[in-house]
Amino acid sequence: MSDTGASPVAEAVSSERAVGTGVVARWAGGTFLITVSVLVLALVLGHGAQGEVPEGLPDPGPVTNWGLPILRTLTDLAGVLTVGLLLTAVLLLPSTDGQLRGLCFRAVRAAGRVALVWSVIPLGSYLLTVSDIFAVPVANALSASLLRGLFDISVGPALLAQSGLAAGVAVLSRWTLTVREGSLLLGLALAALLPPALTGHSAAAGSHSLAVVSLLVHVVAVSLWVGGLVGLAWIAVIGSGRLPYGVVRFSVLALWSIAVVAISGAVNAAVRLGSLADLVSTRYGALVLVKASAIVGLGLLGWMHRRRTMPVFTDRVRSADDGDTDRVARRAFASLAGVELTVMAMTVAVAVALSRTPPPVPDDALTSEVATLTGISMPPAPSVSQLLGGYYPDGVGLVLVLFGAALYAAGVATLRRRGDSWPRSRTVSWFTGLAVVAWSTFGGLGLYSHVLFSAHMVSHMLLAMVAPIFLVLAAPMTLALRALPGPRVPGEVSARTLLTTLLHSRLSRLLTHPIVAAGLFIASLYGLYFTNLFGALMRSHLGHAAMEVHFLAVGCLLFYVLVGVDPGPRRIPPLVRFGLLLVVLPLHAFFSITVMSAETVLAGSYWTSLNRPFSTDLVADQHLGGSISWALGELPLLIVLAALFAQWFRSDSREAGRLDRSHARRPGSAVRPDALDSYNAYLARLHAGDQAAGDRPADDPKRPPASHS
Ligand code: HEM
Repeated sequence: MSDTGASPVAEAVSSERAVGTGVVARWAGGTFLITVSVLVLALVLGHGAQGEVPEGLPDPGPVTNWGLPILRTLTDLAGVLTVGLLLTAVLLLPSTDGQLRGLCFRAVRAAGRVALVWSVIPLGSYLLTVSDIFAVPVANALSASLLRGLFDISVGPALLAQSGLAAGVAVLSRWTLTVREGSLLLGLALAALLPPALTGHSAAAGSHSLAVVSLLVHVVAVSLWVGGLVGLAWIAVIGSGRLPYGVVRFSVLALWSIAVVAISGAVNAAVRLGSLADLVSTRYGALVLVKASAIVGLGLLGWMHRRRTMPVFTDRVRSADDGDTDRVARRAFASLAGVELTVMAMTVAVAVALSRTPPPVPDDALTSEVATLTGISMPPAPSVSQLLGGYYPDGVGLVLVLFGAALYAAGVATLRRRGDSWPRSRTVSWFTGLAVVAWSTFGGLGLYSHVLFSAHMVSHMLLAMVAPIFLVLAAPMTLALRALPGPRVPGEVSARTLLTTLLHSRLSRLLTHPIVAAGLFIASLYGLYFTNLFGALMRSHLGHAAMEVHFLAVGCLLFYVLVGVDPGPRRIPPLVRFGLLLVVLPLHAFFSITVMSAETVLAGSYWTSLNRPFSTDLVADQHLGGSISWALGELPLLIVLAALFAQWFRSDSREAGRLDRSHARRPGSAVRPDALDSYNAYLARLHAGDQAAGDRPADDPKRPPASHS
């Protein structure tokens, strides 16, 4: 059997397995037993198996109380395994022609089989959750009304969604033959991990957006990290010449994942713990500490990989040696990976117990109308110190800023390591843009944007019209194209190739069309505020976050078209950009004036139900918002107008300079670039001719015809 990577890269699957099937089976059995024991222990420690049945209600019974967390652990592990196998096929192992061959093809098929199992488990969880929530023994939970009843509670649809998405992965894997299709399937598998994270503790928590978003990021990072290691351990056991490429790429992914898992886990724990003391004084805190020590242990194991098992693989990649990696090195890698995976499985078990342990900050800590609508209690009246020092637990804003900062810094560091320079002004511009996003989402302004229309308008204007200017002038795409790794083997679809394809795709051509970019920008203003959409999005935590992301996205698109420095699918002449601005300016001004003069309050029921003790005149606050939108909106547009003018002027003088230079390089060349000179010479010749003609008789055939000017 051959690992047909369709390239010289290590065709052969070595006949020698690094470790025997028996060893693998014993490891899997042992890990399963240890994981279940740790789960039971953690559930006992955290009181997670008592279920959350209120006092006086019958207990659903041990089958449910123990069955639910066991099924949840199996669901998480099946999800991680599916993601891991797909990740190995499309990202870790190089393929030269975009086709999934050999071990990559087998990995996708295996992922399909695991996904099938994955899709069934949530159905079992659905039944046990009915028993748990309605406090009836499992046998009674099979009643149609109860089963339907769970569908009205968010956990019901979430479990069915997970089952459906996992089944989708299983079915589609049968038709997945290319890296591109495999990447889409990986995306679907990652999406299938998420529904349960949108219910449970985090969904009911105060600081809802932060709790939910940090858990989503946590679960995705855990799955890429643990799943990727599962995939590589499998390849190491079987043996493949492509393993070194996979290991080297995974080491970068593992570094990012451990950081993201630790930060997102800590943020999620912080939402659930009332204080640091709760870490040592509560059961929930104790389990969090167990997880924290597990991640330290995993970090150490990762370090051992870097010291012991990785050098062989790095050398192989560097020397482009495509022979199969020797069995000893593979065995060392697989053994250490085996220990690491056992620790990871145990940590997942502790995590599941944690999700069933009552947290110190009870889910229903915040019950007021304000808290239900905003996820926080009403802040004091706005003051300079509050606006500058205040904070709102906005998970989406935090993720955008943290990832934006980390990725840009990593890009600049990569160039520096290669000895390439990157303009400091661009880095400053990028971080200035991120600072504006931070203040407008989770900073003091973000806090008041949930309770005051005027503050919401400032936040909107900064996200849509100020931050984007700094972000697009920082040339993030250029940095990415320079810093992202190229193909590891000839013909591989690398991250850089993918980005280039994306930048020149039809979708990118459509979105960066000046009319489309301006249309989206203007439509967002009128379409959002003058329909019920505004009120609906203000009432939902994730809806509010989606609004913020939308403002930033359409702003970046418009300002990329107007003043962007990154390469793109089309060159837009300064004059067109100028014209575009002259269209957007008045439309934006008209929007602001309409808001300023409106007597009806936009999303009135939302602001009324907040019943805030300050700025009680809603219309006055709206008028203030409108005038701020006008002032804050026009200013950046005017700055851009000036920048465009400068760019236009510069491009003109650049063009003139270019013509001069090429003229200087090729004096008298057939193609006389200096049109003016040659035209003058032509006129001089004509004139000379006329002179001479004057001297020739009228019928002389050489006498030229009279001119039309
Ligand atoms: C600093 C280390 C870590 C901290 C502070 C942490 C914290 C948390 C918290 C607070 C939750 C939410 C629990 C709830 O719903 O109340 C969680 C969920 C989770 N964690 Fe971690 N974690 C850490 C490391 C890890 C590691 C290393 C792994 C796996 C290798 C992991 C796997 C998971 C999983 C799978 C879930 C979702 C469980 C479920 O709801 O099904 N975590 N973590």
